[in-house]
Amino acid sequence: MKKLFEEKTVLISGGLGDIGKAIAIAFAKSGANVAVGDIQPSAQAASLLNELTQLSVKCSYTQVDVSDAAAVDAWVTEATNAFGTVHIAIANAATVTIAGLYKITDEQWSKELRVNLDGAFYVSRAVTSRLLQQDQKGSVVFVGSWAAEAVHAHIPAYSVSKAGMRMLCQCMALELAPHGITVNEIAPGYVDAGLSRKVWEQSPAQKEDARLKVPVQALITAEEVAEQVLRLSDPGNKHITGSILLMDGGLSLVR
Ligand SMILES: NC(=O)c1ccc[n+]([C@@H]2O[C@H](COP(=O)([O-])OP(=O)(O)OC[C@H]3O[C@@H](n4cnc5c(N)ncnc54)[C@H](O)[C@@H]3O)[C@@H](O)[C@H]2O)c1
Repeated sequence: MKKLFEEKTVLISGGLGDIGKAIAIAFAKSGANVAVGDIQPSAQAASLLNELTQLSVKCSYTQVDVSDAAAVDAWVTEATNAFGTVHIAIANAATVTIAGLYKITDEQWSKELRVNLDGAFYVSRAVTSRLLQQDQKGSVVFVGSWAAEAVHAHIPAYSVSKAGMRMLCQCMALELAPHGITVNEIAPGYVDAGLSRKVWEQSPAQKEDARLKVPVQALITAEEVAEQVLRLSDPGNKHITGSILLMDGGLSLVR
């Protein structure tokens, strides 16, 4: 039986992070070829590429800084040359600086917006402009956060970047709607992986506090995020666009 994403190619930024890797593996299991990009050196990608190859899909790795528009464009050109068409873009790369408005430096503020917001724009624009040129349908999923709407005073740059990403998602969804390209956001709450896990490793008590704060009393796994990203990328979907899939276990209901 044909797999859902067979003959499709997905491009994932921040693909060596915990959530990015889970997304790459989930797509490969569903038959997609995978172009992974991350700022980390190529040697760091070896085990993921090995795992993807064992799933019998084509894959590639490019070291790329998403805040550099020209580098992103070169990455998408390389992926297009290798795979034909890149049908799906997952804008996932991000950093977080824990520093309030009067502690964060200008450099930290600007870097966070450049990576999280500008980077998401460069990646989604580079993929969808080629889809338009090739007259192909496809999808974009922005990996956002519940922090886009719930005030997190200790991570203002991150929250502002994710709020900006939300409007970017909606503007792009409207522009691309007549072209059969859907654009959506997944907004996870506390994920037991990546950026949050790094914080909780320094302070394990905070992790249990976080879990107990969530109405469903559970942290999200990277694999659970990936599952929802695949749903939003379903080639059969034409009606769900410009939407935000809030996946926070009810966290935002109690704040
Ligand atoms: N972990 C959570 O609790 C959580 C919750 C909500 C949303 N998210 C979102 O999930 C996404 C993935 O985060 P994660 O938790 O897996 O963190 P992670 O740190 O494991 O992954 C982020 C990846 O982005 C890469 N990256 C950073 N700067 C880059 C740049 N300039 N260019 C290219 N790549 C760059 C990093 O090298 C890393 O591999 C992010 O968008 C994050 O905001 C995470």
